[in-house]
Amino acid sequence: MAILDHWHPVHPSRDLRRKPVGFQLGNRYLCLFRTSTGQAMAIDDTCPHRRLKLSYGQVIGDRIQCKYHGWTFDGCGNGESPGAPKLHTCTESFDVREEHGYIWIKTRGKEAQFPNINPDGLYSLGHMRHTVPAPLELTVDNFTEIEHSGTVHNTFGYDLKRMHEVRVRFETTDTSVRVVNVGPTIRLHPVMRTFLGVRDGDLFHDDWTTYFSPIYSVYDHWWTSPDEKREAMVRWRLYMFFWPIDEMSTAVVSFVYGKSRYPGPAGGLRFIKPIFRREVDREVRQDIDMLKNLASYDTSIDGMKLSRFDKVLGLTRERIARIYRGERAGRLSIA
Ligand code: FES
Ligand SMILES: [Fe+2]
Repeated sequence: MAILDHWHPVHPSRDLRRKPVGFQLGNRYLCLFRTSTGQAMAIDDTCPHRRLKLSYGQVIGDRIQCKYHGWTFDGCGNGESPGAPKLHTCTESFDVREEHGYIWIKTRGKEAQFPNINPDGLYSLGHMRHTVPAPLELTVDNFTEIEHSGTVHNTFGYDLKRMHEVRVRFETTDTSVRVVNVGPTIRLHPVMRTFLGVRDGDLFHDDWTTYFSPIYSVYDHWWTSPDEKREAMVRWRLYMFFWPIDEMSTAVVSFVYGKSRYPGPAGGLRFIKPIFRREVDREVRQDIDMLKNLASYDTSIDGMKLSRFDKVLGLTRERIARIYRGERAGRLSIA
């Protein structure tokens, strides 16, 4: 399969209105628009006439009109020219779904499994999108390894001085990579510590699985006492999707959920939602700041001095190449 053959969350549903939206996915310029009946459509953004971006045009009824010479295209990409009615033209169109507040697209007619977002019993804290100025592989490296959490993060991470105590376990299938980490938590902000019910010396549990069609990681974060008999009041779950905008930038789309043991509707999460959202946003921005400061954007892991936490890099590289990019597996082995 090629990159566009997988389902990707490309744009928040609520932000697509009458005006078409242009965006890049896997180096391709694509266009979203809503017909007069409200249906979301996705087509190639390049007008086949003289290559103006169709997203620069406007929607008329069920068709998008190119601003340059007025040719129009429907959601299946069928084109008409007012100046040459007999001329047949078309542009590529894509399958579209609207789920979880997002517009998802993939190559029309390709078989691809829709990602399994199944937050049973969890409260939605909303979704957010970040743009990382780094290639896909280096972005995934960052979000699937925790050794950096002791210096970079404030909430989801491990005490740097006790990083050597963190236990890390890898479980793989042909199509997924699971990483399970347990160790002494970093010291949280007092407000967060109080609300979550986390004490100094508690263990942070970080258990995630990464899938590759499309590429996304499902993270569960929670805290327990050192003997693991007492659990903190709130758990988090994040579904984070990673897709290449172009060779040097990556979109990270996060669907954030929480579960609280406090009494009352949604365990109080409704009231604290803005704080929790801000916390996830801040943690992701801190990752982005790291990735802005890499000395090299070479995506090869050859020549890196890797630690015990970094085994995941080779595991994800192999699956990104084979499953997501549809390339033959390279020299990296499947552990
Ligand atoms: S470039 Fe689009 S109609 Fe001419
Ligand atoms: Fe991070």
